[in-house]
Amino acid sequence: MLVLGIETSCDETAAAIVDGEGNVLSNEIYSQLTEHSEFGGVVPEIASRAHIIKIETIIEEALLKANKKLSEIDAIAVTSGPGLIGGVIVGLMTAKGIAASLNKPLICINHLEGHALTCRFTDKCEYPFLLLLASGGHCQFLLVESLAKYKLLGETHDDAIGEAFDKVAKMLDLGYPGGPAVEREALKGNENAFNFPKPFVGREGCDFSLSGLKTAVLRELEKTKPEEVKNILPDICASFQRTVAEIILDRSNNAIAEAKKHLPNVNQFVLSGGVAANKYIGGRLKGFLDDRNFKFYCPPLKLCTDNAAMIAYVGVERLKAGMIDNLNVEPKARWGLS
Ligand code: KG4
Ligand code: ZN
Repeated sequence: MLVLGIETSCDETAAAIVDGEGNVLSNEIYSQLTEHSEFGGVVPEIASRAHIIKIETIIEEALLKANKKLSEIDAIAVTSGPGLIGGVIVGLMTAKGIAASLNKPLICINHLEGHALTCRFTDKCEYPFLLLLASGGHCQFLLVESLAKYKLLGETHDDAIGEAFDKVAKMLDLGYPGGPAVEREALKGNENAFNFPKPFVGREGCDFSLSGLKTAVLRELEKTKPEEVKNILPDICASFQRTVAEIILDRSNNAIAEAKKHLPNVNQFVLSGGVAANKYIGGRLKGFLDDRNFKFYCPPLKLCTDNAAMIAYVGVERLKAGMIDNLNVEPKARWGLS
């Protein structure tokens, strides 16, 4: 079994080939960093145009790297939401065209399901598991019981964790995407230099709020003379990152309790989405979960951020379960997983 995966929901144009055992035969990504960098964030119209220009080449490269022909593919899996609608349309229309011309099944994938199931092919993680999906656009705890059986336990009331990193990076002129830049600066700083607020910590449930933390960083910067910002930048980044980690640990504690109410034996925790690339947060979570006898999974860096291998892989699971779609599926800007 061979599945072609296509991902175009944000600023990565990506295609991948995954086989029936979950082996990634190729995983090609074109990141539109240069297109968006001068704007400090993703510009939807520019993203759509860049996807149109790149998509064919990326699919050809994925086939070439996997040493496969299009005619050998058994199904086409594509992100059909949620995301920037222009980009989703480019990927979905391309996938429909290929599926129609080859007369092969089309499998429409929720982008979040790609992040959710990445640990299944990277670490052979079995169902069920508790998932913290933390990316630039999403921040939620999900109980993943089995394929297509997801229960939302909690989510952010305002910013996503990656978004908070991006906004703080923007305030500090660190460029986009902000997460890696903040993490790099934090390595040089004192994580206890600033005592930022931890919204929602101590509160019931496992929802998040991050906008107050972001505002606190802004207030600290407003108090600082412009010529001195450079000197406190590493301390700000380290303190911000520590605060985010402590918010995540508090919320995870409640999410575990919530998950156990539904599935008393659940003992696996997965961190997925772009924020899973953060070594400091991963390290703090690992220690916390070891103490609670939870096994911790965090996909490798390259598969934490947006890619098409995760989409192709969900395609493999869905194809095996006979879950295929017809050609009139519509692209969705918003689409919850549970
Ligand atoms: O999953 P992803 O590639 O795209 C979305 O679906 O959003 O996640 C991108 C997000 C960005 O907000 C980026 O700043 C964040 O993940 N990110 C990080 C790190 N690397 C990427 N956040 C914190 N630390 C990192 N090392
Ligand atoms: Zn993503």
